[in-house]
Amino acid sequence: MSTNSRPYIFVITFLLTLFGFYNYVIYNSNGYVAAEKLSPVAVKGQQLFQDKRCWSCHQIYGLGGYLGPDLTNVYSAEGKGPNYIKAFLNSGVNSMPQFNFSEGEKDALVQYLKQVDETGIFPNYDAKIEATGWVKLKYRNEE
Ligand code: HEC
Repeated sequence: MSTNSRPYIFVITFLLTLFGFYNYVIYNSNGYVAAEKLSPVAVKGQQLFQDKRCWSCHQIYGLGGYLGPDLTNVYSAEGKGPNYIKAFLNSGVNSMPQFNFSEGEKDALVQYLKQVDETGIFPNYDAKIEATGWVKLKYRNEE
C-alpha cells in the first residue's frame, strides 16, 4: 500500500463507526415491537391458516397469494365479519376450496382474523419514513 491510501483508511474507519452506531440505535430501539399478542385460540387459528395454506391464495397485511382477496380487514369490513367469514370456510365459493372445519376450528380462524384486523390496515398508505430509517406505519390499535 502506498502512503497515499492512508486518508481512505480514516474515511472507511469513520464510515464503519457510523454504520456500527446506526445499527446499534436501530436494533436497540424497541418502539415498534408488535403490541398485539395472539390469544391461544387465535394461535390455533393461525396454525390452521398455515396448515391449510390459506396464504397461498390470500394475503394478510398485503403479503401472500393473489388468487383470493386480502383478509387483513375482512373481520371489520362493512357487510362482512365473523358470520361472513365462517360462511366462506365450508362452502367452496368459486375457486376457494371447500374445507370441512369443525365449529371450533371456524371460531379459531375467526379469532385469528379478528386479531389481525385489530392491528393492521390494508392497503396502508399512512407510512412515514423516520430519521432513523424506520418506516412507521399506522396501526389500528394505536388510534
Ligand atoms: C385455492 C385458493 C384459496 C384457498 C386455499 C383459500 N381461499 Fe379463501 N377465497 C379464495 C377466493 C378466490 C375467494 C373469493 C371468492 C369470491 O368472492 O367469489 C376467497 C374468499 C375468502 C373469504 C371472503 C373474503 C372477502 O373479503 O369476501 C374468506 C374469509 C376466505 N376466503 C378465507 C379463507 C381461509 C380462512 C382459508 C384457509 C382455511 C382460505 N380462504 C383458503 C381462494 C382461496
